[in-house]
Amino acid sequence: MKITLSAIKADVGGVGGHTKPSKELVETVKKIVSESKLLLDSYIGYTGDDIHILMSHTRGVNNAEIHKLAFDAFMEATEVAKEQGLYGAGQDMLKTAFSGNVRGLGPGSAEIEFEERPNEAVMLFAADKTEPGAFNVPLYYGFVEVSRSPGLMLSNDMRKGVVFTIMDVANTEADKIIELKTPEEYVDIASLLFNPHRFVIEKIHSRSNSEQIAAVSTSRLHNISGKYSGKDDPIAIVRVQRPFLATEEIGAMFKYAHYVAGDTRGSHNMALMPVVLNSPSSVYYCNPLISGLFFSMHNGKFTAMGDAFDDPVFDEVRRLAATKSFLMREQGFVMPAMLPMEEIEYTILADKLKELDKKFVLRKQD
Ligand code: 13P
Ligand code: MG
Ligand code: MG
Repeated sequence: MKITLSAIKADVGGVGGHTKPSKELVETVKKIVSESKLLLDSYIGYTGDDIHILMSHTRGVNNAEIHKLAFDAFMEATEVAKEQGLYGAGQDMLKTAFSGNVRGLGPGSAEIEFEERPNEAVMLFAADKTEPGAFNVPLYYGFVEVSRSPGLMLSNDMRKGVVFTIMDVANTEADKIIELKTPEEYVDIASLLFNPHRFVIEKIHSRSNSEQIAAVSTSRLHNISGKYSGKDDPIAIVRVQRPFLATEEIGAMFKYAHYVAGDTRGSHNMALMPVVLNSPSSVYYCNPLISGLFFSMHNGKFTAMGDAFDDPVFDEVRRLAATKSFLMREQGFVMPAMLPMEEIEYTILADKLKELDKKFVLRKQD
């Protein structure tokens, strides 16, 4: 049976700051989604102040009705957030009228359509206080870097390589994408992914059977609003197990606690910390977070689920992330603790720099 998994997420308000949604927000989203007749199944959770809706259905990707269902749920939750006086009520609902699909409206989406395997195994990763390019490192390591991902040697299917679809998210006119193949084009892939603010993995397809393995949300809120409107906290779906990588081969790629853009005011670099499902944001400078869900599917139903990072091994990664973040913050306001100019461009700092620029003088040459 051809099934579509649609993960759609939005920040519609936080408790006492950009921390987590209230119980009532999550319940509102759950109620609206559960009343829908469009879905085979659904799961709702949150990471930091972002609520994600995972839906299975048979209507394909970019389906207007599915996207509208998520959009309406987030709009309804926005009303609750306003009634509760939550912080940043409706933050990601940059456009309030629905038009076709959620792309360009504020919420992020990652979707995959596939013929369900008899033992379909999938992971859902949801991040807070960071940007879509945060997935560049774990997905590159997992699908390209044999020394970190020996499963690439051990699976006949994975040995045939994958196709990366990478988006240039600086282009606001239309989706500007490139397709590059592993193993032969890996240096070109790295040559783009080194800049996660601009080049973002959107999809990964198997070269063995042409199926889509992974999908990442790529929306950049400042491209829609023209100013800093919160971070573009991303979500990703990754299909796992034969003929793809194993669950633990993908999970292991989050052990590096690599530095990502984000945290407080979305203006800094800190280490990505794996956390358990439904964790609030850290009040330590909004350290970037990632949660992981693994689940089995049968006939589109989510039959059983688990928490990927609820594991003593990931306690060690949490410690590593905290140490790396502390060390980065010792750098104070100086780059790379803070983001480069093109990323700061959408914040108030850019206006101040323009004012200061007017006061600069050109020294007369003698
Ligand atoms: P969010 O994008 O998660 O709402 O964070 C915004 C922010 O600026 C926190 O300081
Ligand atoms: Mg927020
Ligand atoms: Mg957020």
